[in-house]
Amino acid sequence: MTKLQIEDIVSLSKRRGFVFQASEIYGGLSGFYDYGPLGVELVNNIKQLWWEHFVQRQDNVFGVDGATIQHPELWRASGHLSGFSDPMVEDTLNHKRYRADQLAGVDTTDLKELALLLKGKKSPDGNPLSEPRQFNLMMQTWVGSVEDEAAKVYLRPETAGAIFTNFLNVKETMRAKLPFGIAQIGKAFRNEISPRDFIFRVRELEQMELQYFIYPDDQQEAYEQWRQFAWHFLVDILGVNETSLSWHKHSQKERAHYAKAAHDIYFDFPFGAKELWGTHNRSDFDLSSHAKFSNKDLSILDESSGQKTIPYVIESSVGVGRLLLTVLSDAFSRDKVGGEERIVLKLKPSVAPYKIAVSPLLKNKPELVTFARKLYEELKQEFLMVLWDDNGNIGKRYRRQDEIGTPFCITVDFDSLKDRSVTIRDRDTTKQIRVRADNVASTLKPRLH
Ligand code: GAP
Repeated sequence: MTKLQIEDIVSLSKRRGFVFQASEIYGGLSGFYDYGPLGVELVNNIKQLWWEHFVQRQDNVFGVDGATIQHPELWRASGHLSGFSDPMVEDTLNHKRYRADQLAGVDTTDLKELALLLKGKKSPDGNPLSEPRQFNLMMQTWVGSVEDEAAKVYLRPETAGAIFTNFLNVKETMRAKLPFGIAQIGKAFRNEISPRDFIFRVRELEQMELQYFIYPDDQQEAYEQWRQFAWHFLVDILGVNETSLSWHKHSQKERAHYAKAAHDIYFDFPFGAKELWGTHNRSDFDLSSHAKFSNKDLSILDESSGQKTIPYVIESSVGVGRLLLTVLSDAFSRDKVGGEERIVLKLKPSVAPYKIAVSPLLKNKPELVTFARKLYEELKQEFLMVLWDDNGNIGKRYRRQDEIGTPFCITVDFDSLKDRSVTIRDRDTTKQIRVRADNVASTLKPRLH
C-alpha cells in the first residue's frame, strides 16, 4: 500500500471541507488556517471529549476560560519575554528567515553549537547565512488608542498563563485542596519562524492544557499519572493506533525554560515521527515567579507539616490542530471495494463529523424520498449529525461518505415500501444489513460511541 503523504491529507481537507488556508482568496497567510464545516465538527468533538475526560469526569479538576491578552507582567514572570525564542538564521541576500536548528538538522537551541554546525553552509536559495541568533516568538499588539511602550501587550503564547494567575481564585471559589487541577482550552499565538507541515506548526493555534497542582513530594507519581492518561486518551478515547505513538524524553537541552522534566508523545505523521503531546514537570517555577512579580502570596499551608509551601505543577498540553492532523492521518486508509480503490476515514464514531447518512435509492421517486426524509428527520432528532445525501448514484454516495468518515449509511429502496426495512451499510466492512426503519435508532445507538 502507498505510504500516506501529507499532500493526501491536505487535498482531502480542502476537497471535503475539513481545513482551508486562511484568507485563501487573497493568496493565504502563512501559518494560519480556517476549519471548514467538517473540520469544525471534528475539532469540536475532539475538544468535547478532552473536556469530558480531563475535567468533567475528574473529581478535582476545574475549568477556566481566560482572556487571550493578559497583563504584560504575566509574560515577564513566566519567562516568555526573555526565554521563549527559537534560534534563527537569515539569508543575507533575500532576508528569508529559517530555524537554525532545522537547517542544521539537530535538536539544540545552543547558538554556539549551531554557529559551528552551520559554518560555511548556504541558505536553501544558495546564499550566505547570517550568524544564528535568538528570535522571540511572542506576538505583540497595543491596547487603547496610543501605540506606545506602555500600551504594549502580547497575545498569549500558551494558555497556561491565565491558569497560574487564577490559582488562588479557583482554589478559594471551589474550596479546592491539593492535589487539584485547572484546565483550559483556548487559542495561543506564536510567531513561528517557519510554519510548516500544514497545520502541524502554525502561528495561531489552540491548546488544551491542564495544570495539576500538587505537593512537591507527589511530583513523580502525578507526572506518571498524567503522561499515562494522555496516552490512554489518545488510544482508548480517540482511537489512535498505538503502534503510531512513541515516547520521547526531553534531554536537558530540549526542555522549555520552565520544565524540570518533560516527556512528549510522538505520532508518526506523514512527514516523520514528531511531537504531539507534552507532559511537563514545571516544578514551582510558575507560582514562585508569579508570587515574586505580583507580590502576592501564592503558597498554601501543608496541613501535614504545618509549613507554607508553593505547589508544584504537572502540566499536560496538546494542540487541537495537531491532534486533528493526528486523527485524520491515523484514520486515513485506502482499500478496494468491488475492484475500485476507495479512500476511507476510519474515524471513531464519537469523533466522526457525521454519524449517519440517509439516502433514497432514487431521488426522482417521491415515495422513496418521502419515506427516507421521514426517517432522516427522526434520526436527526436523536443523533443530530445526520446527513441527507441524494446526489449521484448510490455507489458514489457511499464513496463520499467513506471519505468523510461517516460510520453508517442508510438507503431506502423499493423493498422498504413493502416491508418497511432499510439497508444499513457499515463504513469499514462495507457489509450491509436490513433493519426495520423503526429499529434503526436502537440498532445504531450502541455502535456510535
Ligand atoms: N504550556 C506548555 C506548552 O505550550 P509546548 O510544548 O510549547 O508547551 C504544547 O506546546 C503543545 O502545543 C505541543 O505539544 C503541540 O501539540 C502544540 N503546539 C505548540 N506549538 C505549536 C504550533 N506552532 N502549532 C501547532 N501546535 C503547536
